[in-house]
Amino acid sequence: MVKRLQFSFLLTLIHLIPLINAEPAILKLKSQPVPRTARRTAQFTKRQANASEPLLEYFNVTDLQWYGNISFGTPPQTFTVVFDTGSTTAEIPAIGCQGCQNQLDAFDSKNSSTFVDLGVNNTVNFATGVGVNPSDFESVNLRAVRDTMTILNFSAPQTNFFLITKQTAGFAADPFDGIVGMGFNPNQSVFRALELNNKPVMFGLQLTAKSVGDDAELTLGGYDASKATAGPLRFSKILHANVTPNFWSLESSSIAVNGKSSSILKTPLEMVFDSGTSNLVFQQNITEAIYSLISPKIVPHGTLGAYGIPCSEIDSLTADLSFTFTDTSGKTFDLIVPTSELNLGPFHDDPNTCQTLINSLEGFNILGASLLKHYYSIWDVDNAQMGFPINASLSTNSTGTQTGSGNKSSAVRLSVQWFGLLIGFAWLTSLI
Ligand SMILES: *[C@@H]1O[C@H](CO)[C@@H](O)[C@H](O)[C@H]1NC(C)=O
Ligand SMILES: *[C@@H]1O[C@H](CO)[C@@H](O)[C@H](O)[C@H]1NC(C)=O
Ligand SMILES: *[C@@H]1O[C@H](CO)[C@@H](O)[C@H](O)[C@H]1NC(C)=O
Ligand SMILES: *[C@@H]1O[C@H](CO)[C@@H](O)[C@H](O)[C@H]1NC(C)=O
Ligand SMILES: *[C@@H]1O[C@H](CO)[C@@H](O)[C@H](O)[C@H]1NC(C)=O
Ligand SMILES: *[C@@H]1O[C@H](CO)[C@@H](O)[C@H](O)[C@H]1NC(C)=O
Ligand SMILES: *[C@@H]1O[C@H](CO)[C@@H](O)[C@H](O)[C@H]1NC(C)=O
Ligand SMILES: *[C@@H]1O[C@H](CO)[C@@H](O)[C@H](O)[C@H]1NC(C)=O
Ligand SMILES: *[C@@H]1O[C@H](CO)[C@@H](O)[C@H](O)[C@H]1NC(C)=O
Ligand SMILES: *[C@@H]1O[C@H](CO)[C@@H](O)[C@H](O)[C@H]1NC(C)=O
Ligand SMILES: *[C@@H]1O[C@H](CO)[C@@H](O)[C@H](O)[C@H]1NC(C)=O
Repeated sequence: MVKRLQFSFLLTLIHLIPLINAEPAILKLKSQPVPRTARRTAQFTKRQANASEPLLEYFNVTDLQWYGNISFGTPPQTFTVVFDTGSTTAEIPAIGCQGCQNQLDAFDSKNSSTFVDLGVNNTVNFATGVGVNPSDFESVNLRAVRDTMTILNFSAPQTNFFLITKQTAGFAADPFDGIVGMGFNPNQSVFRALELNNKPVMFGLQLTAKSVGDDAELTLGGYDASKATAGPLRFSKILHANVTPNFWSLESSSIAVNGKSSSILKTPLEMVFDSGTSNLVFQQNITEAIYSLISPKIVPHGTLGAYGIPCSEIDSLTADLSFTFTDTSGKTFDLIVPTSELNLGPFHDDPNTCQTLINSLEGFNILGASLLKHYYSIWDVDNAQMGFPINASLSTNSTGTQTGSGNKSSAVRLSVQWFGLLIGFAWLTSLI
């Protein structure tokens, strides 16, 4: 999957299209308060969770996805899935699924004593692809169902999810079976399992690149303090926290490229943190403003938002991208995507041109694995915040952090596109 535009996309972005065009009835966005109990907060501060599972990496020329085990049914049937913070529903192949021959596991509802068929079919379109190339549109047919979900030793009876009954060829290369949404939705499958087991509703994610090692892991009900060691934890509140379902989005007050910024890059932006996107995705004007500070020779490749530059020139470029955020104490901190992420490898259709890490797509500003694999990340549903251990000596100051940018209001700018995404979320959720 390329996860140049990836799975979560799939689930979030693309099915807006039918939504907006044909399904106005779906515009029922639910807003509900996020549970934040003193009990859980207290547990969080002292908890060093021990419920972790290793994640495997799908590497195909470039880092693509990390995935791990989850089970559905009674007795449990096990599946490998991408834990996707950019969507909020779960999809796994049904037995007899058309086009799922390469997926190793399929759910057999006859073998589960707790299975309930909700009797609703639907089709969802995804932007996805494999290796180095722009994404294509692929689709899956889904059936809404309900059964027990188990992850590690946490179970949630009567969890709603989708069985994939048909998928198009683009998914065949995936080494995993399906996807489990970890978007901000307190009542979503995995989070509900934590809640029912009286655990803090939070998780920690370590996405280790293949070139670095194989200790990627997902920790549930807390975070792995043995991995969050790079520096003190800096937490930042997510935007629109009272709306569910929601994205894990933080306001970035500015972006710098090799220590330089520009007026457009100092515009505050909502950045969605998405483990289901392999690289970075920005709206076109941000994409081009960043590339213009790296090299004028980085140009669009094709019409699907990919960019590239002759491979012979890419290794001489420097592209340290720094994104400034504000923590809960009002201090700014930077998250950095280093130059090593710039080159995704040669395009299949043009091996002399190498794909660069940012795809452009109107209405989206997404920090995917190109950023997440450089930080331990903590996703705290109870407190509607994200945390990162930050080694201050790694930060740059190029981004205007000294200029008080952290005071900018994060209250507004609910863009049409953002709203559209939420509608997409709510739509799929409302099917089950
Ligand atoms: C995690 O739990 C296992 C078994 O419950 C225990 O053997 C191990 O020592 C624990 N590890 C930590 C770091 O607490
Ligand atoms: C799961 O295992 C962890 C570590 O062994 C333990 O702390 C936790 O209480 C267990 N959870 C349940 C629901 O049994
Ligand atoms: C995932 O489950 C399979 C059995 O279905 C098991 O063989 C494998 O070790 C598990 N992987 C992890 C990472 O727990
Ligand atoms: C369902 O049960 C049948 C009969 O026990 C077995 O052959 C089959 O492998 C099971 N399917 C799954 C997906 O576990
Ligand atoms: C790698 O990607 C290519 C397409 O780019 C695909 O044909 C191949 O099956 C993939 N290999 C693996 C191991 O997934
Ligand atoms: C949470 O999800 C369960 C099923 O997954 C559903 O039965 C329940 O009504 C949901 N609760 C809320 C508050 O949405
Ligand atoms: C739902 O999809 C299944 C195949 O997956 C099909 O057999 C069934 O007829 C469909 N039902 C409706 C109402 O379209
Ligand atoms: C912080 O970064 C500096 C410079 O790269 C490095 O020397 C130091 O070991 C790092 N500290 C930690 C705790 O990782
Ligand atoms: C900016 O934020 C700091 C603390 O984060 C606060 O002390 C200061 O008053 C704020 N300034 C303005 C103009 O809001
Ligand atoms: C960049 O493009 C977005 C639309 O994607 C637009 O809302 C925004 O105003 C543009 N910013 C600038 C500085 O032109
Ligand atoms: C960062 O800022 C400090 C003080 O504002 C300055 O002394 C230092 O040179 C700056 N470092 C870089 C890399 O710009």
